Amino acid sequence: MSSRVKVVVTGAAGQIAYSLIPRLVDGKTFGNKIVDLCLVEIPQVVSKLEGLVMELEDSYFPHMGEVTYTDNFDEASHDADWFLLVGSIPRGIVYEGKKIEERSDLLKINGGIFVNQGKAIGENGKDNAKILVVGNPANTNALIGKNAAGKDSQLWMAMTMLDASRAKSVISKKTNTNVSKVKNMIIWGNHSPTMYPDVENAVINGKSGTEAINDMTWVENAFLPTVQQRGKSVIDARGASSATSAAKAALDTIIACENTTEAGDCFSAAIASDGSYGVPEGLICGYPLMTLEDGSVEIKRDISLSDFAKERFQLSIDELSSEREAVKHLMK
Ligand SMILES: NC(=O)c1ccc[n+]([C@@H]2O[C@H](COP(=O)([O-])OP(=O)(O)OC[C@H]3O[C@@H](n4cnc5c(N)ncnc54)[C@H](O)[C@@H]3O)[C@@H](O)[C@H]2O)c1
Repeated sequence: MSSRVKVVVTGAAGQIAYSLIPRLVDGKTFGNKIVDLCLVEIPQVVSKLEGLVMELEDSYFPHMGEVTYTDNFDEASHDADWFLLVGSIPRGIVYEGKKIEERSDLLKINGGIFVNQGKAIGENGKDNAKILVVGNPANTNALIGKNAAGKDSQLWMAMTMLDASRAKSVISKKTNTNVSKVKNMIIWGNHSPTMYPDVENAVINGKSGTEAINDMTWVENAFLPTVQQRGKSVIDARGASSATSAAKAALDTIIACENTTEAGDCFSAAIASDGSYGVPEGLICGYPLMTLEDGSVEIKRDISLSDFAKERFQLSIDELSSEREAVKHLMK
């Protein structure tokens, strides 16, 4: 076993974390590395993590290193390689006497959390740390955190891998193809119902998406609404938001960053725009990404977008801009 990696997970007593955490130490996500875990929760529930740690110890994970838990994020952040920021205040709960229903309220409450976590990551995390924000509103939480961290060598991402996996699943059913044969699946924009899952640039069984699907009516009337509203459909059916699929998507994002991307493929996550594809600089926007041989993550720049795609993508860019406007008081 070659080396160690330290992973900090917030929201560690939540439902996504329960699926996610054991698989961080199962020897698949980080390969042969020993994984040290630091689990973070809010003071009200941090003691529950004692039970999770017992379960991890009882599970026989040869790749598991040191496991600690705390309600002090600052303390947890020292020398971490990866931060999985899953914890956030969900929609629908009563917070300080008010039921949180609006995205704008969510932005306000969670924004404050991400300022403090961002500062700690900038000061204490490894210079090349990778940060995956899962807690919603993920893109704008990542924007606030990245801004507070102020360290460009660290890579801040918001998770859109689940949207990409959902899109692959719908395409695989439509074309009777195994999900592994759907490549280059791009989610443009925000992790919200305005996201644009790009069928035209997907590669399905080696064919372009346009050619393999050849049915823009289906794309517009069935595919897009199904993928864009899938989170809500799961909540309606299960009475709780996606957890095991969200955990799998977080693991897939880590794996995509830790391994070189195959030629002709890409993976989906939202990162800070450098102006690529006409997105205002700094917005945390869903892009096609590639991990290069030196381990750096880059935007894939040779994708062409149809007029239909550009129009849809612009709606999501506009939403990201208005979210940035709503939290500008939290940015330095
Ligand atoms: N990006 C995506 O694709 C995606 C998919 C599914 C869910 N989500 C989001 O992920 C988040 C977590 O979902 P869940 O189902 O696990 O929720 P959950 O309510 O079961 O767990 C969230 C946990 O976060 C903790 N928490 C809150 N603030 C914290 C803080 N400041 N520091 C540490 N912990 C904190 C809570 O105590 C709770 O235990 C939600 O915001 C949800 O909307 C994102």
